[in-house]
Formats: sequence, structure tokens, C-alpha cells
Amino acid sequence: MKNEVSICREVPCASSPLNRRMVRLDNVSKQFNGARKITALNNITLDIDRGEIVSIVGPSGSGKSTLLNLIGTLDRPTTGSIRIDGQDLSSLNDPNLTLLRREKIGFVFQFFNLLPSLTCLQNVGLPLHLRGWAGSMVRERARALLDLVGLRERAEHLPGEPAHPRSYMSHEFQPAFRRVE
Ligand SMILES: Nc1ncnc2c1ncn2[C@@H]1O[C@H](COP(=O)(O)OP(=O)(O)OP(=O)(O)O)[C@@H](O)[C@H]1O
Ligand SMILES: [Mg+2]
Repeated sequence: MKNEVSICREVPCASSPLNRRMVRLDNVSKQFNGARKITALNNITLDIDRGEIVSIVGPSGSGKSTLLNLIGTLDRPTTGSIRIDGQDLSSLNDPNLTLLRREKIGFVFQFFNLLPSLTCLQNVGLPLHLRGWAGSMVRERARALLDLVGLRERAEHLPGEPAHPRSYMSHEFQPAFRRVE
């Protein structure tokens, strides 16, 4: 396998409206200038439409995380341009990038990054709270999302807490979230 990232596209769902470009990268490169200069990404051009499911694959060190960090607006490219839902990221300052992340991007991190003092339900609902949703709507939506992934009974649990002494073993090996990377 070549030491570079590849993009794998799944067949999009028939019901998805695919007429909207959600992600556009134009000749994006990213260099890290440490003790030695590393070109993590070299001239990536990529379009992802609404409803598409896309995997970024490649060997270790090929730039997958770097690419996800750029698309997730957590880092900026050295050269090239990135648009998310039509907005050019280079035109946004940090507060506006924070707003864009809050409205448009969901992250599932490999190391969870759940807030330990909030319950499972509160962790799932947190981004909606930050968007200003009413508490009852946040809880309703967060419950629906937990239902969707079979975690309804963990709603009131703290992240480190086992579900029930008798079901401890099965939950121990079923973490709430996995980073899709
Ligand atoms: N902050 C950084 N400073 C310096 N070099 C970095 C930094 N982040 C990534 N790199 C380098 O950029 C290249 C791409 O790294 P990246 O983490 O994106 O690869 P990856 O495909 O996600 O690898 P893995 O499969 O191991 O997670 C590597 O050579 C890595 O060492
Ligand atoms: Mg990585």
C-alpha cells in the first residue's frame, strides 16, 4: 500500500438529498515544521456531499488524523482552501469556527472525551444545550439518540460507571463511543 491517504465512498442512501456540498478541499497541504519538516498532506482535493458516507484509509502516518483535524476545523492547512457547507474556513476567526463546529460537525473521539461529572444523557445533550435548545427538547433528543445506539438504560450513568453489577462484564467491553478514524 502506498504511504498516502485514500478516500473510500460508500453508496449514498437513496433518500439523502445529495445536492449540497458539505466539504470541499482545494489543493490542501499540511506541513509540520519541527526538528525536521514533515509534509503530512500533499495537495488534497476532495468533495463530500450531504448524506455521503466516506472512509479515510491509509497506513499509519499517512495523514488520516491530520486530514480529519483539518476537516473538523481543529487545525488550519499550510496551503489550499477548505469550505464546510459553503463557508471558507480561512475567513473565520476562532469564535466563528467554534460556532461552525457547534452547528455542523459531530466528533466521535477514540478516547471518548466525555465529561466525567455529567451523565451519559447530559454528555450526549451537551452540544444541543450549547446551541440554546430548551432543556426538555435536549433531553428528548438525547434519549432518542441513546435509543438509536442501544444505550437507553445507561442514560443516567456517569461515564465510568458500570450499568448494573450483574451486567458489569458485558458493558465493560461495550464502550459508549468509538472514534471513527
Ligand atoms: N503535531 C504534529 N507535529 C509534527 N508532526 C506531526 C504532527 N501531527 C502529525 N504529524 C506527522 O504527520 C504525519 C501524519 O500523521 P497522522 O497522525 O495524520 O497520521 P495517521 O494516518 O493518522 O496515522 P495513524 O494511523 O497512526 O493514526 C506523520 O508523519 C506524523 O508524524
Ligand atoms: Mg491517526
